[in-house]
Order: sequence, then structure tokens, then C-alpha cells
Amino acid sequence: MAQFIQLVEHCKQSIDDELLAGLTAPQATTSPKYLYDALGSKLFEAICELPEYYPTRIEAGIFGKHGKEMAQVIGAGTTLIDLGAGNCAKAANLFMHLQPAQYVPIDISVEFLRDAVGRLQQQFPDIDMVGIGMDFSLDLQLPQSVRSDKRLFFYPGSSIGNFTPEEALIFLRQIKTACAQGNKTDGGLLIGVDLVKENSILDAAYDDPLGVTASFNLNVLLHLNRLLDADFDLREWRHRGFFNDKLSRIEMHLEALSDQTVRWPNGVRRFERGERIHTESSYKYTRQSFISLLTEAGFENVTTWTDPQQWFMVCHARAA
Ligand code: AVI
Repeated sequence: MAQFIQLVEHCKQSIDDELLAGLTAPQATTSPKYLYDALGSKLFEAICELPEYYPTRIEAGIFGKHGKEMAQVIGAGTTLIDLGAGNCAKAANLFMHLQPAQYVPIDISVEFLRDAVGRLQQQFPDIDMVGIGMDFSLDLQLPQSVRSDKRLFFYPGSSIGNFTPEEALIFLRQIKTACAQGNKTDGGLLIGVDLVKENSILDAAYDDPLGVTASFNLNVLLHLNRLLDADFDLREWRHRGFFNDKLSRIEMHLEALSDQTVRWPNGVRRFERGERIHTESSYKYTRQSFISLLTEAGFENVTTWTDPQQWFMVCHARAA
């Protein structure tokens, strides 16, 4: 049976404080993590099926076409550490090529991960598996049962884009440090990165005609109503999702359709019509700008794979 370690603690007070600070700031904002309650996670899965949302499809194509070559670059017998593993499917598709010695899926969604690892262990009884329920964006200190040799951090899906470049640099440095835990020098990173492209393609990917991304974004308000006991009226808000080319990022906002006051036991916020809550950014990189970020974080020997249109990139880099 797969080992499972739970390190997640949900502190109600810190969630309340964080949301109060964000919602009452002059430019209201909420962390993108509030997009992912149970319904939000399902809506995200639906987004990945949309014709306009190309990253999932194109990344899968890159892994399908170049997986064998990636394994040749990386070498067999890694400790494969899957950040934000979810249903573990992306990593499992690479097992055949990578032949990991140990698989360590990590996710904040504890029960979902526990079930997924249980099922996967039955499918691959010979791979040692240690599931970990934790918020890896806060801390990457891994328990002792995670092997320290040949650590390969796997971070697909362009989730790195949901950090600002400054935060991404800090996070990549933490990965680099965690590669070297136990004084090993053989660690690395396999990461998916969405690339800058024509505005119209980016805009459509984050504001689809079916309105799935709009529902995904509006669901933040349902989530906040539940978490804070707030009284957001979803009919009074609309989704905005567009590429900001000066900052090279998609921005997702919720825009008030009327003047209104939102109340919850510990706070109140007046919104004028047209005022927005910034709910997510998704940064897009060029091949070179991302390689520079990896180098600044202490990685070297970067190998990249892209699709023919160069819309998405998978990188492997060694911890220097
Ligand atoms: C999870 N993350 C990489 C997605 C993205 O593209 O930034 C989240 C998302 N937001 C809207 N659509 C998808």
C-alpha cells in the first residue's frame, strides 16, 4: 500500500485575515487558490477540455512525442516529485519512459490525492509511492521518507505562470534547494511553461464563448460566500479575462455590474459599478526569458521541447 503523509493545516483565522486584507485593498484582490474548491476543480477540468484552452492539449502532445527523449536526458531511477499532482495522470503517463525509483505526488487537495495514489499504487505495485498532502507553495521541506537521490521535480501545466516572476524565482530557488537536500548534486526539474503568442489566441483561451472560464472565475464568489459567510450576489458580477501585453500576463478579474455593498461578519466592502476584483494572473514567457529565470534560480544545462507552433514549452534543467 502507498504511504501517505498529511501536512496540510487549514487555519480559519489566517484565511479570514488574508481575504479581508485582499478584499478591502484599494485594488481588491484574492489569491488564485480560491478558484479551487470542489466545484472550481471540476470547472478547471472542464476548461482543459475546451478547444480554446490549448495548454493542456499541447503539453500532452509534447510529452507524447518527446517523452522517450526526455527520459534519455533525465536518466532512469529518479525520485519523481510531482507538484500539484491532482489525479497523478500526467506523471503516470511518463512512468513507462522515466522508470522512477520512487514517486512522490504532492497536492493540497488531500482526499483527492489519497484516492488517486491508492489507485495508482495498485496499477504500479513495483514503484515505491509516498503521497504527501501539503501546500508546497509555502514550504518545500520534504519528509525523511522521500529519497534524497536523483530528485526530479515535476511541475507541468504552466502553473508556474500563476506566480509573479518574482515569486516564481523564489519558488524555483526553493526547488533547487530541495534538489540538494542530503547534499546530492544529481537533482533536476521538468516543467511546463506557456509561451507568449498572438493576443487573440490568449484572450480566447481565458474568455471562452461557452462561458466555462467565466463560471470558474465567478465560482470564487460562491467560495468566498461559504468561507466568509459573505453575501456576494453572483448576478451582479461578470468575468473579465484578457492578455495584458505590457506585463506579459493574462489577468482574470470579476467586475461589478452595479454599485453595491458586500458584507460578512468581519468586514464590509463597497464596490462601484465597473470596479474589479483581481482573481488570477497567468504569466506567459518567451523561451529565453524562462531560461534566464531558471539560470537565475541556480539551474543549468537546460533542454527544451516545444510544439511546431511554439505555443508551449517543456524544460528540463539540472540543479547546478
Ligand atoms: C492552473 N493554471 C495553470 C491555469 C492557467 O492557465 O493559468 C488556470 C486557469 N485560469 C483560467 N483558465 C485556466
